Amino acid sequence: MSQNIRQFLLSAHKDGRKLSMVTCYDAAFAEICQEAGIDLLLVGDSVANAVLGYAKTAQIGMGEMLHHTAAVRRGSPSSRIVTDLPFGSDELPETAVPNGLALMAAGADAVKLEGAKLDSVRALVAAGVPVVAHLGLLPQTATSLKQAGKNPEEAAQILKDATDLAQAGASAVVLEHIPTPLAAEITQKLAIPTIGIGAGGECSGQVLVLHDLLGLSARRPPFAKAFVDLRKLALEGLVSYHQAVTTRQFP
Ligand code: KIV
Repeated sequence: MSQNIRQFLLSAHKDGRKLSMVTCYDAAFAEICQEAGIDLLLVGDSVANAVLGYAKTAQIGMGEMLHHTAAVRRGSPSSRIVTDLPFGSDELPETAVPNGLALMAAGADAVKLEGAKLDSVRALVAAGVPVVAHLGLLPQTATSLKQAGKNPEEAAQILKDATDLAQAGASAVVLEHIPTPLAAEITQKLAIPTIGIGAGGECSGQVLVLHDLLGLSARRPPFAKAFVDLRKLALEGLVSYHQAVTTRQFP
């Protein structure tokens, strides 16, 4: 799949076809995502908060990302998998490249990195590792959940970074929590797809955190939509099980 992911992204963009992306962290959900026909699975470093009980995405490293990437690949042999390079692993090309290659060997088809790390992007692409960029709100370093790109200088910088990242060889760019008109302008100007989260409906595709989308998160950002309430269903199932066991009705 890895040779095809850039081609897939570019042709989806050219054809104006909307892309669905969702985070995925384990084999069980990867199998379901594959069956649902999701275009791209993101082994996001949001696994830190969504699954592993950490307060920040910056608290996890390569070991966890390799472990979860391999699990997602086992669950979904044919999905297109993008894995986050974790905080501190991609600042320099010298570390970004071996880390990117290790994630590919674990089952990723591409890596995602936050910010305009142009030298790392160029080196990864030259080493045969497709790259998805990430601009706007950058969870690894953000100190608040406030929208990025609200003032003209910040908006101009995000537009410039997106253009530079596309020129450096990125195959797509995730735009997180930026104003809809800015995301629309970037989408119009780039020859690679934009994948939005809290960036409006004009992006080439959308990404959501799996646990937000399924209603499993105790809290979710205002721009995330739950399409089903699995937390409620799971709680009902567990309470019924507890009652059935403790009142001797099961087995
Ligand atoms: O790790 C993650 O879940 C992400 C999304 C917010 C795009 O990077």
